[in-house]
Amino acid sequence: MTDVTFVSTNPGKSREVAAILAPYGLRVRWKRRTLPEPQAEELEAVVAAKLDAVRDVRGYTLVEDSGLFIPSLAGFPGVYSAHFLKIWKFGPILELLRTRPRAAYFRSVVGLKRGPKRWTFAGEVVGSIAERPAGSGGFGYDPIFVPHGWSRTFAEGTAEEKNAISHRGRAVRQVGVALGAAPDAPASDAAAPRRR
Ligand code: IMP
Repeated sequence: MTDVTFVSTNPGKSREVAAILAPYGLRVRWKRRTLPEPQAEELEAVVAAKLDAVRDVRGYTLVEDSGLFIPSLAGFPGVYSAHFLKIWKFGPILELLRTRPRAAYFRSVVGLKRGPKRWTFAGEVVGSIAERPAGSGGFGYDPIFVPHGWSRTFAEGTAEEKNAISHRGRAVRQVGVALGAAPDAPASDAAAPRRR
């Protein structure tokens, strides 16, 4: 069995990454650590900085950066999603969207490295922002995000339902395809590793 060390402070992400990679025969070890997040417009730049900062892990290191992007708010909260939520919760977003289009998407970028080799993978899920929070599953903005094709929020679905279509599921399954055998994994998300 191959081990992958996921470096993050977020237990919600870590649970999801472990569940998403299990069918690929990959065991995820969670290293709880705060990594530097440079002020950057792109998740990819944050992921590169996170990978640079981890130097003491043997084998495969995995990091992730993600955010909720709302086009009618010029992409906000985007790369500032974690910080904004901690201070303001959902109130200001729900207030602003009373008069603006509610379309939104989550994006996840994961970085994988082993020695000098690096790969990045990305995934997105489109949907809309609910009028009020609902559900208690998941984490972060899950209570206000309704994925396209659903009539409830991510927080009202099960972990399996979310992982099957989520931005993180789509990004992390590419790690599974690159590193493991995947008898029961959906082929549609497969992609060759992009080496940097
Ligand atoms: P970061 O990747 O540590 O910068 O944090 C990303 C932030 O985006 C999280 O703390 C959440 O607030 C939000 N976010 C990312 N992915 C999800 C998700 O799957 N559900 C809900 N919120 C998410």
